[in-house]
Amino acid sequence: MESKLKDILNRALSELKQVENMQELNEFKVKYLGKQGELTGILRGMREVPAEDRPKIGALVNEVREKLEAAFSEREQAFNKAELEKELQRSAIDITEPGKGHEKGALHPTTRMFNKLIDICVAMGFEVVEGPEIETDYYNFEGLNIPKNHPSRDMQDTFFITENILLRSQTSSVQVRSMEKLSPPIKIISPGRVYRNDSDGTHSPVFHQLEGLVIDENVSMADLKAMLTSMMKKVFGQSTKIRFRPSFFPFTEPSVEVDVSCPTCHGKGCKVCKGTGFLELLGAGVVNPKVLEMSGIDSKKYRGFAFGFGVDRFAMVYDGITDLRNMFKNDIRFLKQMK
Ligand code: DAH
Repeated sequence: MESKLKDILNRALSELKQVENMQELNEFKVKYLGKQGELTGILRGMREVPAEDRPKIGALVNEVREKLEAAFSEREQAFNKAELEKELQRSAIDITEPGKGHEKGALHPTTRMFNKLIDICVAMGFEVVEGPEIETDYYNFEGLNIPKNHPSRDMQDTFFITENILLRSQTSSVQVRSMEKLSPPIKIISPGRVYRNDSDGTHSPVFHQLEGLVIDENVSMADLKAMLTSMMKKVFGQSTKIRFRPSFFPFTEPSVEVDVSCPTCHGKGCKVCKGTGFLELLGAGVVNPKVLEMSGIDSKKYRGFAFGFGVDRFAMVYDGITDLRNMFKNDIRFLKQMK
C-alpha cells in the first residue's frame, strides 16, 4: 500500500509538470483528488488494510493529498497569473499611438456678435431687458406711434396670429414695455429675435436685433451720435468711419440711418459693400415726444434717443460673410469655418 501511494505521488507530480492549460489541470484534479479519484479509491480500500497499519496508511494518504493539493494550487496560480498577463498585454494602451483630439464646438457668428455688442453696451452702463416674441399690436406698433392702417406699417411685413397678436417685427416693442414699467433715467438694451414675412437672398423670416433706449433730462442727438460712434469703433476698430443720413421712423424725430465704413475694404469699395465703401447697419433717432407721452413719461421734462441694430448683418460684415442664407442654414461646414 505504501509503495502504491508513493507511486501515485510520483506519477501525479510528473503528470502535473506536463499539464499545459487550465482544462488539463482540471482533468488532473478529477483524476487524483476528485471523489472518484485515485486517492479516494485508496481510502475506500482501507478495509482490506490490517487494523494496526490503518493509522499509518491513513496519515500517508493525507500527506500525499496535501502534497498534491499544494502542487496543484501552485500550478493553478501560475496559470491564472499567465492568463492575467495575457489579458493585460491584449488590452494595454499603446502610448506611442498619436492621440485623438476632441473637436471643439464654436459659437454661431450671430451669437458672438450679440455677446460683443452686449459687452460693449453693459460697459457703457446699459441694463439688459428682454421682451416676448409673441407680442400685441400695441407694443409692436401703436405704442411706437404706428397706428392701425398707417402706411408706415408697410415697412414691416408682419406675421399676424390674430388681429391683435403678432410675432414681433422689431425689438422696439421692448422700448414701450420698459417705458411703462421703469421711470427715468432709463438706459436699456434689448437683444432678441424678430420676425417678418420676407424671404429671399437678403431677407430671412427670422432675424436678430439689438434695441437701445436712453431717456434722461438732458439727452440730445449729439449724445446719440457720440455713443454710436464710440460703439461702432469698438466693434469694427478705431479707424472705422461713421456716416449719419436723415431717415424716417414713426417713433423717432429726427431719425437717422447709420452707415459704417466697410471693414473688409476700409471704404475703398468691394464685394461686401457692393462697391460703395459703406454699409448701412442701423436705425436710430431722438424718441418722438408722442411715444414718451403714450407710455406716461413727461416729454417736457425728459428726452430720449434710441437705436436698433441688425445683429445678423453686423456679424456678416464683421466675419466677411456675403450670403445671408448661410446664417440660418446651420450647415456644419460653414459653422466650422467660423471658429
Ligand atoms: N425698429 C427699427 C427697424 O426694425 C430699427 C430702429 C430704428 C430702432 C430707429 C430704433 C430706432 O430704436 O430709434 O427697422
